[in-house]
Amino acid sequence: MNKFYITTPIYYVNDIPHIGHAYTTLSADVIARYWRQKEYEVLFATGVDENAQKTVQAAEAAGKPIVEYTQDMADIWRTTWEKLGISNDCFIRTTSDKHKTAVYEIIKRVQAGGDIYKDSYKGFYCVGCESFIKEADLVDGLCPDHKTEPQWLEEDNFFFKLSKYQQQLLDHIESHPDFIQPISRRHEVLSFIKQGLQDFSVSRSTQQWGIPWPDEPGQVVYVWFDALTNYLTATGFPEEDFTKFWPADLHLIGKDISKFHCIYWPAMLMSAGLPLPKQIFAHGFFTIDGQKISKSLGNAVDPLTMMSKYGIDTLRYYLFSEIPFGEDGEFNHQRFQTVYTTDLADDLGNLVQRVAVLISKHLDGVIGELPGPTIKVDPYDQAIQELKLSTALKGVWQEIRNLNVYLQENKPWEKVSTDKVEFERIVRQTVANLLLIADLLKPFLPDSSQKISATFADGKIHPEVGLLFPKK
Ligand code: MSP
Repeated sequence: MNKFYITTPIYYVNDIPHIGHAYTTLSADVIARYWRQKEYEVLFATGVDENAQKTVQAAEAAGKPIVEYTQDMADIWRTTWEKLGISNDCFIRTTSDKHKTAVYEIIKRVQAGGDIYKDSYKGFYCVGCESFIKEADLVDGLCPDHKTEPQWLEEDNFFFKLSKYQQQLLDHIESHPDFIQPISRRHEVLSFIKQGLQDFSVSRSTQQWGIPWPDEPGQVVYVWFDALTNYLTATGFPEEDFTKFWPADLHLIGKDISKFHCIYWPAMLMSAGLPLPKQIFAHGFFTIDGQKISKSLGNAVDPLTMMSKYGIDTLRYYLFSEIPFGEDGEFNHQRFQTVYTTDLADDLGNLVQRVAVLISKHLDGVIGELPGPTIKVDPYDQAIQELKLSTALKGVWQEIRNLNVYLQENKPWEKVSTDKVEFERIVRQTVANLLLIADLLKPFLPDSSQKISATFADGKIHPEVGLLFPKK
């Protein structure tokens, strides 16, 4: 059986999920559903990244013991995905024993390769990035991404010989054009590597929260070294059958974390003698009504609120049709409502309703034998497989619009009394195409797809299914 292993980043638990996180998880969900529909055996992994310094700060701010805090937050993340109907197959917690076992195994392998050494480190650490930051990269003494002052740290740590893998990484990226996508990210990563890679510290001593470094009291595993390994944890690593799903087919990430995924992670795997993921795809970031999503602006849209107002499919439709996957985009409330009315309620909802009513009224609700659909699916498949999600979805919408035009031009309602045979031919062709459209929409709009199929199930009309997108 063909297999497909897809991952999302594991999210920090210092905050609750907002629409930016939901975007990554929903896109992984679309792709996972697509491959399941193609009868691939899919492993879709997501989870939470708990062993960060920001977790310690957030627990303190919440006035909760850290174990209780992480438990509560992990529950919030897990149930948010459940409520949004995400079809993940597992949910990794980095505080779990299973994950710790995977981390210890990778450390053992990297150590055995001679790639870990002890050294002291002095530098600025940004808790927002959970990473050391070069003095030259500070802007007015602040981290350019988080606009916060980094901490000055002096520590004795374990280091990973990243520099040793510079050439091997370049060779791999250059000989595998699809390894890092989209192309803009690939260029960025290549130029970063060409500037010269420095070893990075993989343990921390100023912090106690985290996975204890094996046989070294006082040191914990650096959170990124720990977190990246989650992609192996989900496969059961180091159990023998982890190779059933490893190497991953696709790591989906946001562009903010491409350095960790496209440089650190492959080097760690090379050192551990493990195969590299087949592809890392970094999507863009989006703003809300023109502004960056930020806690202080209080503009972080809650995906659950959007779902309860408009239904999950509206959110899915908006995110994947309006924002070209891989590019930066904009979440605009006004546009969101417009899209609901024009694309969803008018183009699709009305179409299904019109055809169902015609058949109920003039054929006693009996659909009759269907012809083959007249829609080509190759461009759709190609677009999804190239991760051009908006191209694929917009292509389906073009077919929906074509079908509306077909009805408008052929006016079956006028033919009921003059040419019943032609009337039947037109409505049956429309139903046949609508059912194929429902199939194509299944990964993107699972609820609506199901409703369309249910409306025309078993050769008759089912008015009890109700309207797809009722007018607001
Ligand atoms: N814990 C790390 C990832 C470790 S993976 C081994 C982390 N977590 S995070 O909670 O900060 O999530 C970052 C991810 O959330 C981004 O890479 C992106 O997928 C998503 N997004 C957060 N804000 C976003 C936007 N404004 N727009 C689009 N995606 C956004 O980094």
